Amino acid sequence: MVYSADYLIELRELGRIIRFVDRAAELGFLERVSSEGYVFPIAVYGPEGCGKTTLLKRFVRTVSSDDNVVAVYVDALEEGDPRRAIAATRSELIDIALELASSAVPVGRELARRVMKIVRLAVEKLALRGKNLVVIVDDVYRAIGLDSVDRYTKMMYEWIDYLHRSLGVERVAIILTTSEGVSKRELFKHTYVHVYMMWNLPRDGFEDLVDQLEPPRDLDREQLWILTGGNPRALIELAKLGWSTETWLSYVETRVEHLVQDLDRERLWKLVEDCDSDPELARALEDRNLMIALNRAMVLGQVPNPSRELGIGSRWAWQIPAYRVALRRYLEGGS
Ligand SMILES: Nc1ncnc2c1ncn2[C@@H]1O[C@H](COP(=O)(O)OP(=O)(O)OP(=O)(O)O)[C@@H](O)[C@H]1O
Ligand SMILES: [Mg+2]
Repeated sequence: MVYSADYLIELRELGRIIRFVDRAAELGFLERVSSEGYVFPIAVYGPEGCGKTTLLKRFVRTVSSDDNVVAVYVDALEEGDPRRAIAATRSELIDIALELASSAVPVGRELARRVMKIVRLAVEKLALRGKNLVVIVDDVYRAIGLDSVDRYTKMMYEWIDYLHRSLGVERVAIILTTSEGVSKRELFKHTYVHVYMMWNLPRDGFEDLVDQLEPPRDLDREQLWILTGGNPRALIELAKLGWSTETWLSYVETRVEHLVQDLDRERLWKLVEDCDSDPELARALEDRNLMIALNRAMVLGQVPNPSRELGIGSRWAWQIPAYRVALRRYLEGGS
C-alpha cells in the first residue's frame, strides 16, 4: 500500500491545516497486522501526545481504499458526540454503532464496551466473511477503568478466535491504546495480549512538522528538539504560546513541581542525572505521566536511542525531555 502524504490535520487553535508527517514504519506495521491478522490483541502505549490517535485515525482513512479490509475505530474517551467517537471504513458500521449507542453518555465508553456487538451485527449485515477485520479502541483503559483492564482485554482475545472460527472473518487484528502506566503494567502480566511501544517523532519527521508550523526564522531549532524530543503535541503547544520556550518551560515547570512535591528530592536528583538509576521512583513518575518504561523488544516504529541529553535511558525515559529540564530547575530552586 502506498501512503500518500496528503492526510491533513486541522489545528484549530493555530488556524492551520498541516500534513501528517513521517510514521512510515508504524503504518507499515499496521498494514502488516491488518493483512496477516494478529493472534493476540495489541496494546499500544507511548508518551502522552506522541501521536497514537493521529496515527490510528490516519490508518483507518488509508485502509478504506482496500476492499479486503474492514476497519472500525472507537475513541473511548469521547464524551458527547457520537460521530466523533467512531470512524470506520464502511458507513454501515457507523450506522450500526450510532443506532446502538448514540444516546449513551459518555458515548465513547459505551461504544468501547459494545464494540464487539457492533462488529457482530456488522458481520451479519455486511458480507464480512472472508474479509480482514481491524478493530481499534483508543484510550480504552482510561474510559472503562483499571478494574476492567484484564477482563476487557481477555474478552478481546477470545473474540479474535470467535470472529475467525464462528463468523468466518478471514483475519482479525485488535488494537487498543493506553497513555498511562498502570494499565500498561497490568497488561504486561498477561500472556493473552502483546504490548507494543510507540515513541515520539524521529528527527526528520519532527523537522518536517516544525517547517509546517513556520516558527520565527531566528528560533533555535536545536532547542526545540532538545526540549520536546520530537513530541508533536509539545511542539504544537509551544507554537500556541508564540514560540516562547521560556513561557512554555515555566508552564511545564509548574506542572512538574505540582506532581513531584511529595517525592524525595535526593532521589529525584539522581533520576535527573540518570533515568535508569531508580526504577521504583521512575514508576511513581510514570504514574504521573512524566516518565515511561521503555519496551525495546516490541516497538511500532523506531526504537529510541539512549541519549542523556534527551533523557532516554536503556530502560526508562522522560516522556519529553522538558520534564527533566523542568525538574532540574525546580530542584535547583531549593526549598
Ligand atoms: N504524524 C503526525 N503528523 C502531524 N501531526 C501529528 C502527527 N502525530 C501527531 N500529530 C499532532 O500532535 C497532536 C497530538 O497527537 P495525538 O493526539 O495523536 O497523540 P496521542 O499519542 O494520541 O496523545 P494521548 O496520549 O493524549 O492520547 C495531534 O493533535 C496532532 O495535531
Ligand atoms: Mg490519543
